[in-house]
Amino acid sequence: MRHAGTQTIETQRLLLRRLTPADAPAMFRNWASDPEVTRFLRWDPHPDAEMTRQLLAAWAELYPNPDYYQWAIVEKATGEVFGSFSLMDDALNEQVRPELWNIPGLDFTHSQWEVGYCIGKAWWNKGFMTEALRAVMDYIFEQTDIGWIASCHAVDNPASGRVMEHAGFVYDHNDLYHRFDGTPVECRVYALTREAHLKEKGTRT
Ligand SMILES: CC(C)(COP(=O)(O)OP(=O)(O)OC[C@H]1O[C@@H](n2cnc3c(N)ncnc32)[C@H](O)[C@@H]1OP(=O)(O)O)[C@@H](O)C(=O)NCCC(=O)NCCS
Repeated sequence: MRHAGTQTIETQRLLLRRLTPADAPAMFRNWASDPEVTRFLRWDPHPDAEMTRQLLAAWAELYPNPDYYQWAIVEKATGEVFGSFSLMDDALNEQVRPELWNIPGLDFTHSQWEVGYCIGKAWWNKGFMTEALRAVMDYIFEQTDIGWIASCHAVDNPASGRVMEHAGFVYDHNDLYHRFDGTPVECRVYALTREAHLKEKGTRT
């Protein structure tokens, strides 16, 4: 399968680039320390910036892998890094279960790829994640052979569902995901096929 790794992506307002350990203070300050940001994520807020730095040092080791996708989200106007965006082989977190899906024709030969994203509260509701998700989907469908992308959000986190819908994702079924501490969370599961992506792209103004 053709992969492209984490290359820089530019949009009107954003720069998506690799994270480095030097981003630790901003990542800790802007989103990783905030329980409101992590409320619907798998991980807990970081207790200190050193933990953030250690995580970023571990991620730095993974960037040479062509199937490793992990972007910093940077506001071009200020240069501030305010969030992160990942694309993961779902088998890493949850069992892939093709039988749950209703959309016909989804290919599970190369696992199931799922997006994950978060930004600091000060940047919410300005259209930033819709802009980032659309740009990453453009990149994935142009630069890789991944045929479709999964995404899910907690039922109590509808803002994330709005972002998915804006990027052309189609609701498929409800499921459970598990926080890293094992807590199950009911979620709504969506998919974006290459075909649906092209359709959404054609409607952008
Ligand atoms: C969810 C999150 C990624 C959204 O990012 P964002 O940049 O604020 O998203 P956008 O501004 O592009 O779009 C947000 C949409 O949700 C809507 N929205 C916001 N709060 C809402 C709520 N409580 N209920 C329903 N819709 C809501 C907004 O009106 C907007 O929709 P619209 O454009 O149709 O009006 C961001 O809030 C976040 O990082 N949250 C913490 C981490 C997280 O939950 N990640 C997702 C895990 S699945």
